[in-house]
Amino acid sequence: MKLTLIGTGYVGLVTGTCFAEVGHQVVCVDNDAAKVKLLQSGGIPIYEPGLEELVKKNVAAGRLTFTNSTAEGVQKSDVIFIAVPTPPQPDGSVDLSFIEKVARDIAAAMTTYKIVVDKSTVPVRTGEKVTETIKRYCPAKVDFDVVSNPEFLREGFAVGDLMKPDRVVIGVRSQRPVAAMKEIYTPFNAPIIVTDINSAELIKHAANSFLALKISYINAIAAICEATGANVQEVAQGIGLDERIGRRFLNAGIGFGGSCFPKDLSAFIKIAEQMGYDFRLLKEVQRINADQMNRFVKKITDTLWVLKDKKIGVLGLAFKQNTDDVRSSPAIDLCQRLQKEGAKLRVHDPKAMDKAKAALADATYVDDMNAVAEGCDAIVIATEWDEFKKLDLERARKSLSHPIMFDGRNLFDRVEMERLGWIYKSVGR
Ligand code: UGA
Repeated sequence: MKLTLIGTGYVGLVTGTCFAEVGHQVVCVDNDAAKVKLLQSGGIPIYEPGLEELVKKNVAAGRLTFTNSTAEGVQKSDVIFIAVPTPPQPDGSVDLSFIEKVARDIAAAMTTYKIVVDKSTVPVRTGEKVTETIKRYCPAKVDFDVVSNPEFLREGFAVGDLMKPDRVVIGVRSQRPVAAMKEIYTPFNAPIIVTDINSAELIKHAANSFLALKISYINAIAAICEATGANVQEVAQGIGLDERIGRRFLNAGIGFGGSCFPKDLSAFIKIAEQMGYDFRLLKEVQRINADQMNRFVKKITDTLWVLKDKKIGVLGLAFKQNTDDVRSSPAIDLCQRLQKEGAKLRVHDPKAMDKAKAALADATYVDDMNAVAEGCDAIVIATEWDEFKKLDLERARKSLSHPIMFDGRNLFDRVEMERLGWIYKSVGR
């Protein structure tokens, strides 16, 4: 099918590329001329495992093209996906101005029937607004359908999540766009749920909030484990093997971050408030998440006492592994808090160092993870990168003034670390 994606951020670019990979003809539109140029010349603006190869392959096959003209994108395709940012506003609500602008641009360019699909994460009832907007701003007064098709990809695993989705959700107001939407997704072999637009929009916020709730739940359990000498990983395993609960997203740590969970929780709480429901459960999820970081910082100050002029090595800056994204990263938050107390930081991340520099200027960036500990008083693990498990512990121990490690992601075995002579503090163990 002929498909257009408007917005080439994580969602737009990965979705467009995967659509091309299964054989669709895809145009990706972005108003950032520099980004389009980069993509046209084979460059990738983000780090996402597997993406670069896939983009190159599909560009070469002639199935994937880039432009900064929305009108061109609209004219070339039957189905137009909106995948633009929906950033948070100071009061927690969502800024829908990019969605509104794109809806108007699509409307202005439409001369034949189109299916306009919202992929961005939006508050329930946004589909109604998009429909009204397109009707109002379409001079050609042609027929169209608005569809809600939320995305569930995780950064760092986006290509895999897209090629093998757990489910595809399609929210419609009439049956007319259903056949085309099913045709788009048939090659992905996933269960397809066809529902109304409001339910589809709600599914996205409800899913992300539930996953965040799972993380806060295990972090709360971690606090109890610490008070009682129990081990949160054993507890997670013990409850996670119950299929009704599941083991995934039960890793205790320094809390969740990123461009989705914190924003989506605030938005969902706000939406509920506007509908007359006080979503206290989700407010508590936020509170536990904030508290988790406070408790970790306290662990560091309890051990190192005064942080002023202490040198601390930090492994991890990205908000999680396999990405260079540092938006709302707990690791950056932690670094800033240590700096506020006067600590001097030596930091390393396998992919996120360039992007971290804007948020964390006053730190020494170290290219080799094994050199981070040099001259430091302690070392901190802030992101769950698998490769940190291969840290040269002997070299790190000798580089530190005292062998102290704060493992905010439970990457190492506590008993083994203590046997090796470390003062080792992790989460919930
Ligand atoms: C999340 C959802 O997982 C996706 O399904 C969704 O599509 C996406 O948001 C979105 O709305 O676009 P993402 O933000 O990429 O994906 O990252 P996650 O893998 O969900 O991790 C979020 C945060 O939770 C990270 O800071 C991670 O370190 C933390 N986390 C995750 C934990 O602390 N413990 C866990 O067990 C899992």
